[in-house]
Amino acid sequence: MDDFEKHLQPVDDGLPIRESNEYARYKLKALEIYIQITNTAMRDKPWAERYYIDLQAGPGKNKIGNEILLGSPLIALLNEYPFTQYRFNELNPELAQALQQRINTSPLHNRVKIYQKDANEVVTEICDEIRRVEKSKTKEQWSTLNLAFLDPEGLELHWSTVEQLAQISKMDFIINFSTSGIIRSIGANYVDAVNRFFGNADWQSGDLSGDIVKRRRSLIDIYLNQLKKLDYFIEIDPELGTHDISFKNSRNTEVYSLIFASKSQLGDKFWRQARKSSSPRRLPGFGD
Ligand SMILES: C[S@@+](CC[C@H](N)C(=O)[O-])C[C@H]1O[C@@H](n2cnc3c(N)ncnc32)[C@H](O)[C@@H]1O
Repeated sequence: MDDFEKHLQPVDDGLPIRESNEYARYKLKALEIYIQITNTAMRDKPWAERYYIDLQAGPGKNKIGNEILLGSPLIALLNEYPFTQYRFNELNPELAQALQQRINTSPLHNRVKIYQKDANEVVTEICDEIRRVEKSKTKEQWSTLNLAFLDPEGLELHWSTVEQLAQISKMDFIINFSTSGIIRSIGANYVDAVNRFFGNADWQSGDLSGDIVKRRRSLIDIYLNQLKKLDYFIEIDPELGTHDISFKNSRNTEVYSLIFASKSQLGDKFWRQARKSSSPRRLPGFGD
């Protein structure tokens, strides 16, 4: 296999690869299973387009120790039943270029547009495009069906970005929520950044004083409540417990959570199936 043939495989192809932690494995597995379930069910329906949107896409490959895993954009692109459109964005120029080089080798490259912008700016352009598609669809076609994977490292994803996406009628979300990052930012008094992330200052009246386990849970619940206000369907599953997939450290504290939100009960059902097959209980090596 030469480097060109390796671009879409989980192997070293000489292009930049992002160092990740063990959590990325579970996050990506949940994404993959959800896409598999949803795209299998939706592929033959008359949607005007089915968009996959990844505003912080990375280079397309991750490394955990010595193991190389495909990143979120390639997982979505290589699914057995692909989306009809892909919009990827990555702020770091080297990572965006690596992603572009990898995508160029895919037979589906014509379905992909890659931007190298701030996630909170490019979102307007992508939403405008989807609205144009919906305006020009034929009578027989349904609306667009969209999945946005939002994968911030810290607080760089603004709530206004989530709100803009949510204005599209069928926009499902999978959002990476780093409770550790948020707690650190609160500790460092980055109040404005936390406000931009949550969309308001309500988090300040959450249970932030006491026990760390409760504190983290309270922040996730505040975010879920914000999504509810945008008409997202957030129900607690009696069998599975909380709505998100939470990744806990050895002290039973949520370190990261993966939040899913859909306005449809069917989307929610697919997520429950994905959760059952991808949830780890503890993350090895996470002590904080
Ligand atoms: C967690 S990584 C993405 C990993 C990728 N989604 C995956 O699972 O393979 C977050 C990415 O966001 C990029 N990034 C950071 N701030 C950004 C911003 N404001 N807008 C767009 N991308 C940003 C980083 O360079 C990094 O590659």
